[in-house]
Amino acid sequence: MSTATNTASTIESVLVENRVFPPDERASKGARISSMAAYEALRKEAETDPDGFWAKRAREKLVWTKPFTRVLDESNAPFYRWFDDGELNASANCLDRHIGTPAENKTAIIFEADDGSVTQISYKDLLTRVSQFANALKQEGIGKGDRVIIYMPMTIEGVIAMQACARIGATHSVVFGGFSAKALQERIIDAGAVAVITANYQLRGGKELPLKSIVDEGIALGGCESIKTVLVYERTLGNWNRVEGRDKTFTEVLEGQNTHCEPTPVGAEHPLFILYTSGSTGKPKGVQHSTGGYLLWARMTMEWTFDIRPEDVFWCTADIGWITGHTYVAYGPLAAGATQVIFEGIPTYPNAGRFWQMIERHKVSVFYTAPTAIRSLIKAADSDEKVHPKNWNLSSLRILGSVGEPINPEAWVWYHKNVGGEKCPIVDTFWQTENGGHLITPLPGATPLVPGSCTLPLPGIAAAIVDETGKDIPNGSGGMLVVKRPWPSMIRTIWNDPERFKKAYFPAEMGGTIYLAGDGAVRDAKTGYFRITGRIDDVLNVSGHRMGTMEIESALVAKTDMVAEAAVVGRPDELTGEAICAFVVLKRPRPTGDEAKAIAKELRDWVAKEIGPIAKPKDIRFGDNLPKTRSGKIMRRLLRSIAKGEAITQDTSTLENPAILEQLAQAN
Ligand code: PRX
Repeated sequence: MSTATNTASTIESVLVENRVFPPDERASKGARISSMAAYEALRKEAETDPDGFWAKRAREKLVWTKPFTRVLDESNAPFYRWFDDGELNASANCLDRHIGTPAENKTAIIFEADDGSVTQISYKDLLTRVSQFANALKQEGIGKGDRVIIYMPMTIEGVIAMQACARIGATHSVVFGGFSAKALQERIIDAGAVAVITANYQLRGGKELPLKSIVDEGIALGGCESIKTVLVYERTLGNWNRVEGRDKTFTEVLEGQNTHCEPTPVGAEHPLFILYTSGSTGKPKGVQHSTGGYLLWARMTMEWTFDIRPEDVFWCTADIGWITGHTYVAYGPLAAGATQVIFEGIPTYPNAGRFWQMIERHKVSVFYTAPTAIRSLIKAADSDEKVHPKNWNLSSLRILGSVGEPINPEAWVWYHKNVGGEKCPIVDTFWQTENGGHLITPLPGATPLVPGSCTLPLPGIAAAIVDETGKDIPNGSGGMLVVKRPWPSMIRTIWNDPERFKKAYFPAEMGGTIYLAGDGAVRDAKTGYFRITGRIDDVLNVSGHRMGTMEIESALVAKTDMVAEAAVVGRPDELTGEAICAFVVLKRPRPTGDEAKAIAKELRDWVAKEIGPIAKPKDIRFGDNLPKTRSGKIMRRLLRSIAKGEAITQDTSTLENPAILEQLAQAN
């Protein structure tokens, strides 16, 4: 692992923005946490009596079928257990709890399809549909503890599938619809899934893209004998191939299903879901989350970070295939009883004004998206006035959010001014798949904002910056971001790989009980505000999507007829934050000109097939070999400099073959 100072392929800011933005009165008036003093009081409460702090909220915010008597069990650290003798059901906490309250007939979801058509569903009707689907799953022999893969488009049905699994105690594993057949197969095998829930096609940007045929392809790759059932939501009229005895449509399995399904109580530690994410080795990690602790934080962060109110219309643009779409689409907004928008399409179709048009149309008050989306919409608005947000009435907005990658001050200021009308606080939320929910974020009614900083940890989150041995680093200097005390929604283990879990997140050199985030960070000398400087491991962040460099390298060298060796690094990119840059040694002489272009295309398509289009390298450079130390280790820091187009200033004395640097710098 390198130190924090080695990282930062994040885009460099041209704008130096020293302004501090105090919370707007609209946001602080009536807010749950309406001042820094209130924040400080909560933080102290959590620090002085952590068990009491969490227990109080778990009792208040969740409905338990069997109350817990234990709060945190640290006896087998770092395998922490929370509320572990309590029982509850996640779906009951998102749906049933609103029945008989004013939220019962409230709109739970406003669904806007790719083509602009809108469907709304109330909490009561959503409960009915989830119950029917849960009964259908039971009829298919799926039950508590079974793993179910969900490979669905952004639709109400996607959320229903997740909630229905939770209702019967099945553990879901959602795979993003942009992942390939191979990626799907690997996840099916690792999770030992019994069923796949999918759709015939997904609609994105006016295009009909296949999903079911990719499921078939993935299963055909082999090793997926555990799959007994494939359920197909017919999103479009498009044809698809049916495997008799295994495949059934939603309509078929829902036929005559009872509208009531008693939620299955599960232990608080029961795995609600597994979500695969990239790590620093080739194989994605199955991040396992609990039911009780996860849901508690999903609900509490809806209240604290978004200060969600009954009249709000909440819109998180993340896909359910990512953690943000789990916590802030499928669970958090429902647990909080909010009305939320779900969008099937993409921000640039039919034009780059789509988000702004939808905010106006649905009167969105809390809007949560990724910096990449904002940057691409800035670019579009700069070149075409007609898609500038000023063309829409965005006055319904109260709070803006950012997630997934650092937001550069230029994008922050534009978002604040042109979308938020200089009246909406931006909550720059730092967190990870492994965290379950927000860790470090401003509070909209309390925290003075500094563009580019995620500010301060939420109460109960003991975030700190340390050196390799776990020793605190003074404010003003960079180091590794850690969380020193467990919190309820943290990762429980890596599915099937507890050893990797310990090694990846709780390094022995730091004592084995401190959570290592894998990001570098620095705290401001005066304010103590956190700024994330980027990953300290071999993980890239491309358009807010997490990609392992080793994962892409493995994909490249799997093209055995062509590739001898490959090394992948990130370089800053104005639009996507980071871009993937691959250095490749072929099994044939180094190509140049048109031949190099053609082979690069072939390799890009290959990576798309192995992992998914999001993993396609932007640059591919061919060399006779790669820069290595005499002991054979690839010197990635040199490759990072070459990818960035920088002059090499690092020490190259240990390099076996210095001439290669020149060759790679010229190649493209
Ligand atoms: O590097 C950090 C970056 O995204 C990583 C986590 O990615 P993932 O697990 O896919 O979850 C993304 C959505 C929660 C982190 O290790 N990251 C996430 N949010 C921020 C961020 N970097 C800077 N600022 C953020 N607000």
